[in-house]
Amino acid sequence: MLKSSFLIILLLVLPVFVFVARTSSCPKSCTCSKKGGSASCRGALLRFVPVFPSYITKLYFSGNLLEIINASTFRNLEGLKLVYISLGQNGITDITADVFSNFRFLLRMDLSRNPKLTPAIAADAIAHINCLDFKQIILNRMIWSNEPTDLYIALSRFNIEKLEILENNFENLNMTLLSENLVQLKELRIGYGIISIIQPGFFQKLEILDLHYNRIQITKDFFGNETTCYFPKLVKLNLMANSIANINNLFWCLENLNFLRLNGNPILGVLNYTFLKLPSLEFLYMSNLGFRFNRIDNRAFQSITLKRLLFANNHFIFKYNIMFHFNETEIFRHSPKIDYLDLSGNEFPSIHVLEKMLSSLRSLSHLNMDNCQLITLPENLFLKLPNLSHVSFKDNRISSWNGHGVFGNQSSVRTIILTGNALSTINETLFPRNAFKHLSILSLGNNPFACTCSNVWFHNWIQTEKIIFENYPELFHCKTPPEKDGGMLKDAIPTHFECSNTDKELFTAVVTSLSLSGIVFVIIFSLIFKLRWYIRYWLFLYRVKKKGFSLISNGETDYKFEAYVIYCDNDLQWIRKKLLEKIENESGISLCIRDRDFEVGKVYVENIIEKMTASRRIILVISHDMVKSDWCLFESRIAQEKCLNMESDALISLMVEDVSEENISSSLRAFVNSASLSKFPTKEYDEGQFWLNLTKLLRNQT
Ligand SMILES: *[C@@H]1O[C@H](CO)[C@@H](O)[C@H](O)[C@H]1NC(C)=O
Ligand SMILES: *[C@@H]1O[C@H](CO)[C@@H](O)[C@H](O)[C@H]1NC(C)=O
Ligand SMILES: *[C@@H]1O[C@H](CO)[C@@H](O)[C@H](O)[C@H]1NC(C)=O
Ligand SMILES: *[C@@H]1O[C@H](CO)[C@@H](O)[C@H](O)[C@H]1NC(C)=O
Ligand SMILES: *[C@@H]1O[C@H](CO)[C@@H](O)[C@H](O)[C@H]1NC(C)=O
Ligand SMILES: *[C@@H]1O[C@H](CO)[C@@H](O)[C@H](O)[C@H]1NC(C)=O
Ligand SMILES: *[C@@H]1O[C@H](CO)[C@@H](O)[C@H](O)[C@H]1NC(C)=O
Ligand SMILES: *[C@@H]1O[C@H](CO)[C@@H](O)[C@H](O)[C@H]1NC(C)=O
Repeated sequence: MLKSSFLIILLLVLPVFVFVARTSSCPKSCTCSKKGGSASCRGALLRFVPVFPSYITKLYFSGNLLEIINASTFRNLEGLKLVYISLGQNGITDITADVFSNFRFLLRMDLSRNPKLTPAIAADAIAHINCLDFKQIILNRMIWSNEPTDLYIALSRFNIEKLEILENNFENLNMTLLSENLVQLKELRIGYGIISIIQPGFFQKLEILDLHYNRIQITKDFFGNETTCYFPKLVKLNLMANSIANINNLFWCLENLNFLRLNGNPILGVLNYTFLKLPSLEFLYMSNLGFRFNRIDNRAFQSITLKRLLFANNHFIFKYNIMFHFNETEIFRHSPKIDYLDLSGNEFPSIHVLEKMLSSLRSLSHLNMDNCQLITLPENLFLKLPNLSHVSFKDNRISSWNGHGVFGNQSSVRTIILTGNALSTINETLFPRNAFKHLSILSLGNNPFACTCSNVWFHNWIQTEKIIFENYPELFHCKTPPEKDGGMLKDAIPTHFECSNTDKELFTAVVTSLSLSGIVFVIIFSLIFKLRWYIRYWLFLYRVKKKGFSLISNGETDYKFEAYVIYCDNDLQWIRKKLLEKIENESGISLCIRDRDFEVGKVYVENIIEKMTASRRIILVISHDMVKSDWCLFESRIAQEKCLNMESDALISLMVEDVSEENISSSLRAFVNSASLSKFPTKEYDEGQFWLNLTKLLRNQT
């Protein structure tokens, strides 16, 4: 009883169990994604197809060992609504004709890498797919040596949109047959083969044609005949790495072509108007054309739509000579919309040629000049090209440039790549501060930096704006000085302090000290000038002492002059006309007048001393000019010295002008105050009395 009920329960539960297993668990050695509805058993080396959860719609089953596919192979897939299956690389040798008939939802199939499968067997099997919406078949690397024409025919019952047959081994491509059978084809990829002979065909809907890496030499009739354009909808054409040598007059009839890849063809030159008949062309790839490329006509790139031109690694030497034909001013003048230009891997012996070439590209935003053997940057680059924001000058030999000339005072540049150049010093001459409002990436790695004081500015810049420096610090190494070779720049730059005694600082120090000593010198000199009479006076005293003659007169001396006259040059007139006239001529009293009585050829100071010593008295002629004259002050000082040892009335001062007391220096004032003073009268009738008094004074003490 117990046993039978257990059995019943078991019988009831078991199918549920099986059902549960079917729907929820992913087979061992596979992975499942419920969200994407996919299962992957790639490379699991399975010899059978396991049971999958029911939500699976895409099965990746490449890299297994199905080999022979017959009715029992896909039994576990019954009940699944597969839209995609990949059976690549299963070593399939045979497929029983109708096994795919259970695929009633299949849209895409991949049978790549089953080289033992013949085109005929594959075609037969595919033809049995039981879904009229089936639209994509991939048969890469089958290494078929004959064109799978059977396949084209087999596929004609579907609305195939994409056919991919890369890496096969057939020479002929009958595009007539292909186009007749795959009328809905939008994408055709037959690359990495040896196709060399093509019979053209009319593809009403083809948008992408990829024939890269074959041996194709296309001719003009590939794209159309007199009445029909064969690819009216074609947008992308990839003819990379074929055997096309001549593209002259080749491209026409491709109204919608936007994207043309011609890289790696042995093209010799681009003649006038080559792309003119492609009214939708925006992207043109013409790199790696080989060493024989040598000609670009003036209107080669003429196009009002062309935006992106890749002309890299063509070894073209942009220097007009016998070998290379181009015109620097014309080359890009007729393609005004180019905003992305790659000229890397060509040569520019003159930077001015490059400047001229680029100057007409007003819309340029990206420029790639890697590996062009440049030694500097083109001037006016950012000034003339306002939209230029990304430039790459990697792997050149650039060591410096004129920052203001290159960047102007305000450029829109965002990215500058200068990795792998010959930069040793980065300073404000190269990167003027205010020219970079938008700079967000600056790549300067792998340059032979000088880890010296010349890069202190650079180091400070890195510290303040670290995020813009790409690959810092990994790619920033020192090259010089030798002892720092190979070190990290970040650790090896001397500090600001360590550098403050060198170069510039030293220069400023020298300048400062020079100018300081200059100032001191000027001060000293002007002091000497100002005090020159005092100095003479001190010298005079020194001499007097040395010579041993004294200013003290002994009373017995016979005076040669009655009076020594101290006056200023401007008062000489008065001296001659009045003083000498009245005193000497009329009264016979002899006076010593410097201008008359000094002995020529004798030192002035000695003259003064001698004559003063030979005079009984001293007359001080005081005028405005006299009190200002350094000479008179000097003379009067000596007089002062002498008068200290003379009778109190030895000094006579004559005020010939009304000099107010505050204009007279204090020492002179004291001197004058000790003298017997006479004021020269302003009134004519008092003059007689004045002279009389003076004569009396001079005579009195005889
Ligand atoms: C399918 O092929 C396998 C060998 O891979 C074989 O064992 C099996 O009997 C075949 N089944 C049918 C129905 O032919
Ligand atoms: C290409 O296919 C067409 C049939 O569509 C046929 O007439 C033509 O001869 C074929 N060309 C070659 C070279 O096989
Ligand atoms: C041009 O090609 C189309 C499509 O293949 C064809 O129908 C037409 O007859 C061809 N015209 C000439 C003149 O060859
Ligand atoms: C290309 O066009 C330019 C300007 O129209 C002309 O001077 C030159 O001769 C043309 N080149 C060739 C090869 O026709
Ligand atoms: C390049 O073209 C310009 C006209 O734009 C012409 O003046 C100049 O002579 C040409 N240069 C060469 C080297 O032919
Ligand atoms: C520069 O870029 C702006 C914004 O992308 C664009 O509107 C403008 O037309 C461009 N200037 C030129 C000369 O192409
Ligand atoms: C940039 O330089 C030009 C000429 O060199 C000058 O006219 C212009 O005012 C400058 N602009 C700024 C923002 O300094
Ligand atoms: C900046 O560096 C360059 C290149 O090393 C040098 O020619 C230039 O004199 C330097 N300018 C200043 C201001 O140091």
